[in-house]
Amino acid sequence: ENYLDTKFIGREIHYFNTIDSTNIKAKEIAQEETEGTVIISEEQTLGKGRLGRSWASPSGKGIWMSIILKPHIDPMKVAKITQVGAAAVSLALEDLNIKSYIKWPNDIVMNGKKVCGILTEMSCELNMINYVIMGVGINVNLNKEDFKGEIEKIGTSIKVETGKEVNRKKLLGFFLNRFEKLYTTFVNEDNFKDTLGICRDKSILIGREVKIIRGKDEQKGKVIDISDEGELLVDYGDNKIEKIMSGEVSVRGL
Ligand code: BTN
Repeated sequence: ENYLDTKFIGREIHYFNTIDSTNIKAKEIAQEETEGTVIISEEQTLGKGRLGRSWASPSGKGIWMSIILKPHIDPMKVAKITQVGAAAVSLALEDLNIKSYIKWPNDIVMNGKKVCGILTEMSCELNMINYVIMGVGINVNLNKEDFKGEIEKIGTSIKVETGKEVNRKKLLGFFLNRFEKLYTTFVNEDNFKDTLGICRDKSILIGREVKIIRGKDEQKGKVIDISDEGELLVDYGDNKIEKIMSGEVSVRGL
């Protein structure tokens, strides 16, 4: 069955059984491909996460994919595409009656643990975007045994949390449908409000005490809101409010 209802996102799909990383492949072919082309693999042997981490991508159990995008926008705004992606994942799960939260800027969590991460990379020249690669990893049908050791405390899958297998094709289709709508409004109408509304609604951080971690530096504060520009607004007390753009920070609940 085909769940895809899009004009250009996912109309061309390169499917692999195994690959190093769909982000690496996407970068290799991005120049020759049209916008919306998807690279997807059953397994990744070198899955990459944010901040130089690795991303476990066992065979047949997840959605490991990258979308090639060519937005005509200011490179400064590319970080917002990650939030568009996060909003789309969360909405797609809602379409399947699965409740999830967004952990700013790019994680989807269920019961406090991560089920999805997004890694957006871009190539630009003279302040013009050549391409953007949005890599999305969704832990769909992984089992408890797939989360051994360090990641046991922070990672989980949709199957572990709901007790049910999820049809990956259906979730993929729903995600691409949701993504195309939000992405098109963002890049063509310069409208980030729709995405923001979803990110605020589904935010797990707003109102919470958190630790902001930059390398070795750690600061405690309280998350007030997400700004209209998509930054995290953190109150460190003494009326010191910082706007944080996604960059190189990691946020942890207390
Ligand atoms: C993170 O939360 O750290 C981001 C994880 C991103 C993982 C996905 S899986 C598909 C794509 N290919 C990769 O190597 N990484 C992304």
